[in-house]
Amino acid sequence: MRTAGSTTPADISRAVVVSFDRCESERLRRVMQSLVSHLHAFATEVELTQDEWEAGIRTLTETGHITDDRRQEFILWSDALGLSMLVDALENTGSQGATESTVLGPFYVPGADVREVGASIAEEPAGEPAWVHGYVRDVSGRPIAGAELDVWQNGDDRLYAVQNPDAPEHHLRGRFRTRDDGSYAFLAVRPVPYTIPDDGPVGRMLAATGRHPWRPAHIHMIVRAPGYRTVATHIFDAESEYLDSDAVFAVKPSLLRDFVRRSADDPERPAGVGGPWCSVENDLVLEESSRPGEPTDPGRTA
Ligand code: BEZ
Ligand code: FE
Repeated sequence: MRTAGSTTPADISRAVVVSFDRCESERLRRVMQSLVSHLHAFATEVELTQDEWEAGIRTLTETGHITDDRRQEFILWSDALGLSMLVDALENTGSQGATESTVLGPFYVPGADVREVGASIAEEPAGEPAWVHGYVRDVSGRPIAGAELDVWQNGDDRLYAVQNPDAPEHHLRGRFRTRDDGSYAFLAVRPVPYTIPDDGPVGRMLAATGRHPWRPAHIHMIVRAPGYRTVATHIFDAESEYLDSDAVFAVKPSLLRDFVRRSADDPERPAGVGGPWCSVENDLVLEESSRPGEPTDPGRTA
């Protein structure tokens, strides 16, 4: 008769890792075995209790329940735990001085109106006008004509148009093309800090752990041009609060910009601007696409 010793936690972890040994895809095997190893090491290290395990399952269940076509709480977890930025940084190394990428966020809606160079993206009053201008160039400094800038931002009510059922559909967003010399310009508004959606499980985690839900003021843009890697990035207001504690860890020093205050009688005042305004210079650098089929559009499923 065989006498069996007791089964240890390590025996269980090992058995689960081994269960993937025959997985035909080498990549899937590696991912699953590493996932299990780290997950089990985590539970072992913190000595996870049955009650804590149940609380975790409840949180995941609530995350599923609050997620729908308009709200993606799983990605919000990824954002708030820094995983979105880590995965982005692993893939976009920002080599050769190309503009650095940052988090896409849940408020991007494809298909924004194409607007003339210099046009306003604000379809109703939404804050202090901000003239955003610059050049799109390649890493050697050559201008890229016909590049597309797909921009979106919040207004002084802190909301993106998609969050406000009363806002016009294309308010505070638009697509612009660079001129032959690579230059572009558009009229935005000075963005304001705002909170990530914090009325669900992620918000409860932030509150329970003493973290805040704020993001520093920023304007989003995706820059695309044939033959170049698409980059999803931000312009951060260098004077904003929360630059040192962004709830989603998306601030990169290279993306900070000065919003320069200008007076109403400044001769460079853009058409249609009556009072004080500001200007932001923002040059962008794209690196050539190395793989056929690139650039892939960064996009969310919800
Ligand atoms: C945003 O910047 O729009 C955003 C990014 C991550 C989570 C929530 C919002
Ligand atoms: Fe944002």
